[in-house]
Amino acid sequence: MPEAAPLLQLERVHRRFAVAGGRQLHAVDDLSFSIAPGESLGLVGESGCGKSTLVRLIARLLDTSDGRIVFDGEDLAALPARRFATAAQRREIQMVFQDPTDSLNPRFTAREAIREPLTLLAKMPRAAADARVDEVAGQVGLPAALLSRFPHQLSGGQKARVGIARALAVKPRLLILDEPTAALDVSVQAVVLQLLERLREELGLALLFVSHDLNVVRLLTDRVAVMYLGKLVEIGPSEQVFRAPRHPYTQSLVSAIPGQGPRIRLAGEVGSPIDPPPQLCRFHGRCPRGEDRCAREAPALRPVGAALVACHFADPTT
Ligand SMILES: Nc1ncnc2c1ncn2[C@@H]1O[C@H](COP(=O)(O)OP(=O)(O)O)[C@@H](O)[C@H]1O
Ligand code: SF4
Ligand SMILES: [Mg+2]
Repeated sequence: MPEAAPLLQLERVHRRFAVAGGRQLHAVDDLSFSIAPGESLGLVGESGCGKSTLVRLIARLLDTSDGRIVFDGEDLAALPARRFATAAQRREIQMVFQDPTDSLNPRFTAREAIREPLTLLAKMPRAAADARVDEVAGQVGLPAALLSRFPHQLSGGQKARVGIARALAVKPRLLILDEPTAALDVSVQAVVLQLLERLREELGLALLFVSHDLNVVRLLTDRVAVMYLGKLVEIGPSEQVFRAPRHPYTQSLVSAIPGQGPRIRLAGEVGSPIDPPPQLCRFHGRCPRGEDRCAREAPALRPVGAALVACHFADPTT
């Protein structure tokens, strides 16, 4: 765990969605972790495991069902999402969405898109906001000549830069990126990732980086959190988790990275997040190791080496 007082601390956060038949879909189930100032945390796990729900809770685009989300000492989960829109923290937590085309207003030029949060959230006068747009465009490597263009006149990489500039304009302390490179081709991804790494060093901002690309997470993050069916199954220093994953699910994920030795293929299908049996390990049925105990007793997160791992049998030496 980081030494400094955390910038963000999640305490037993839950988000359930009501689904047909009076049942509950447990998208995020009892998650606790923290992010230190200036730290970068990766969040990985297969599609549907709850990553986007989790980051939307942190950005207050969704209300929690239970739990606390403490940012800089204040519980954001206690603020209704609607009130958060005008709260001071709204500036300090900014999000970059997966697809820059969807998240940019087609009627706004790049300058207008980047300026909007400055006038709306930071209440900056127009001239000061324009000066800040020029500054932040420079930081993300967006040529001034492109600022008068509309999204359809920009390339994928340029739109991604507008999205990042827009998020950075108000000088957030936490930047959340939900699969920011998924819609970009590989050469553009590399440029955007270098840019993020440089900005983190220059501006000291904390990053919560969601990606299905483990190689990218390994390069870009200090720590990594692994989710499976709404649960946190492993969290620890990225270097350790990628070198010696302890949870059987993390082991299978890491084995899929080329050059990581034999691929561990999982049997069966992902279970259902709807009313999951509380006594059952979520990974039971797919886990290569699964034993009787795993069907009777859900594993809690516990320290294993420098990581926290939710598996009865995780061992620091294997
Ligand atoms: N508004 C919603 N209503 C009902 N179910 C939802 C809603 N949003 C997400 N879910 C469900 O929550 C689970 C987690 O989804 P999501 O957070 O989008 O996962 P990820 O980003 O990891 O792919 C999925 O089973 C998804 O179908
Ligand atoms: S507790 Fe059991 S089923 Fe769950 S991950 Fe560990 S070995 Fe597998
Ligand atoms: Mg998602």
